[in-house]
Amino acid sequence: VSIRHILEIDDLTPDELRDVLARSADPQPAQVLRGLGMALVFAKPSARTRNSTEMAVVQLGGHPVAIRADEVGLDTREPAEDVARTLACYHALIGARVFAHEQLERMAAVSPVPVVNLLSDDAHPLQAVADLLTMQAATGGLEGRTVAYVGDGNNVLRSLALAGAMVGAEVRMACPPGFHLSSADLDRIAAVGGDTTVYDRPEDAVVGADVIYTDVWASMGQEAEAEARRRAFEGFTIDDRLIAKASPNAVFLHCLPAHRGEEVAASVVDGPQSRVWEQAENRMHAARAALWWLMDQAAGAGGGEVS
Ligand code: CP
Ligand code: NVA
Repeated sequence: VSIRHILEIDDLTPDELRDVLARSADPQPAQVLRGLGMALVFAKPSARTRNSTEMAVVQLGGHPVAIRADEVGLDTREPAEDVARTLACYHALIGARVFAHEQLERMAAVSPVPVVNLLSDDAHPLQAVADLLTMQAATGGLEGRTVAYVGDGNNVLRSLALAGAMVGAEVRMACPPGFHLSSADLDRIAAVGGDTTVYDRPEDAVVGADVIYTDVWASMGQEAEAEARRRAFEGFTIDDRLIAKASPNAVFLHCLPAHRGEEVAASVVDGPQSRVWEQAENRMHAARAALWWLMDQAAGAGGGEVS
């Protein structure tokens, strides 16, 4: 049996994703990491991901070790593959936040322990699990709920759209010209049964939606493009006018960090329909559930009794 990794959310089947969502609510998880560690390698800054994942490891009985990518020299001091092989000598799980997604793929290809994507330029799967948890709590379900994402066709949207599709939510995406997901992405979403619609105008995407979602216009690594992107994304700010077109009970989500006055108005992110702090908390419940699930798979794959 091969080791399971979570590099993108569709590395899980829809049933497995539902299993992870159900485990998130369990306040007494099995202590599957007792006496074990998780290495967390960061090539980019992080507030939520590092802290939520570290605390998730603690809640599973384990010990997290956060490492800056430049301290181990990921692909500079030694190949990412050798970093993964090394960390697997001491840790039961490896998480990494990287620029190029293929770095994670190379680590996973050689790692004898599960590798978890803590955000790459392409994907943010644990964020998507937290997003679903927050949607579920706010709207009472997932199947048939409508989420309208307005903004950049980036890592967060890619994972959100896949995850939404996997649980039967309707995902609408409004991005400026040149900033949509690719047709390969749309094919991948369709492959998991996705009900997605692509819009050019935010006004059209948000009508009657249960959830309005946005993310920064310039992601980590795109700082030099920030000014050009600000111009390209004019009219894509989530403000009270757009929120008013959604369902009256609609909630606003943002993976954070938020740039008030750019992708979202302060009155929205700090307003009564915002659920961004519940969403941030859910990062920890999502991480705990996903790591627990991965440890169970590793045990089933011949990793021995771990709980
Ligand atoms: N949402 C998120 O991943 O936040 P951080 O970049 O702070 O980890
Ligand atoms: N799209 C953003 C998400 C940050 C959590 C980025 O990659 O910087």
